[in-house]
Amino acid sequence: MSRLEPGPVAGTCLLDLFGQRKLATLQAAPGSVYGERVIDGYRLWDPFRSKLAALLQKSRRPGSLNLSPDAKVLYLGAATGTTVSHISDIVREGLVYAVEFSPRAMRDLIRLAEARSNVIPILADAAQPQAYSSLLEMVDFVYQDLAQKNQAQIASLNCARYLKRDRIMVLMLKTRSIDVTASPQAVLDSEIEKLESLEVMEVLDLQPFHQDHWAIVARKI
Ligand SMILES: C[S@@+](CC[C@H](N)C(=O)[O-])C[C@H]1O[C@@H](n2cnc3c(N)ncnc32)[C@H](O)[C@@H]1O
Repeated sequence: MSRLEPGPVAGTCLLDLFGQRKLATLQAAPGSVYGERVIDGYRLWDPFRSKLAALLQKSRRPGSLNLSPDAKVLYLGAATGTTVSHISDIVREGLVYAVEFSPRAMRDLIRLAEARSNVIPILADAAQPQAYSSLLEMVDFVYQDLAQKNQAQIASLNCARYLKRDRIMVLMLKTRSIDVTASPQAVLDSEIEKLESLEVMEVLDLQPFHQDHWAIVARKI
């Protein structure tokens, strides 16, 4: 067994692999999900593959991203479930409502949910949050990673409807999807202004892990 240390948030750890500290989560179901290495039951979580892992490595206030093991999470833009699977490890007694509108990605997500009872796949457009109201409850954490022109508006709509007050939302903002001609900083500033009833706590450039991506951490007020 490699040496283990607590990670930046509850439910994560740092494995010492030949002198390098690697972020990992304790697997909630057997096996590797997307080809990641599994060492003694811990799944390595690569910040180059997952923006949330990059945020956890870079954040100066990781405590605000702590999730309890029974937390309920709304995940918008789940894709095939790379990051969903690590959140599922962290909230092993909770639930991850994973919204994705690509039927192709949904096939993999359904396979993931078959192996993990706390993942609820939802085939829907995150810009129409009322469409999944019958499937959802109020949640403790909203995570959004989808490249759309109206990313801030989609986040605001979902948080207004489903995020409990005082709880945290993370928006992974891809500025080039919004405007390739404007400066990234100008796009970032204008998107932040569009966030409604959310107090911004941290804004981080995800380089060197992800180009043109910013993480916005905000609290619902
Ligand atoms: C960058 S990928 C997400 C990667 C994923 N978050 C991860 O780390 O494993 C963006 C995903 O958002 C989905 N998406 C984009 N717009 C969407 C929308 N309006 N509603 C639901 N899903 C959307 C895309 O189909 C794509 O699978």
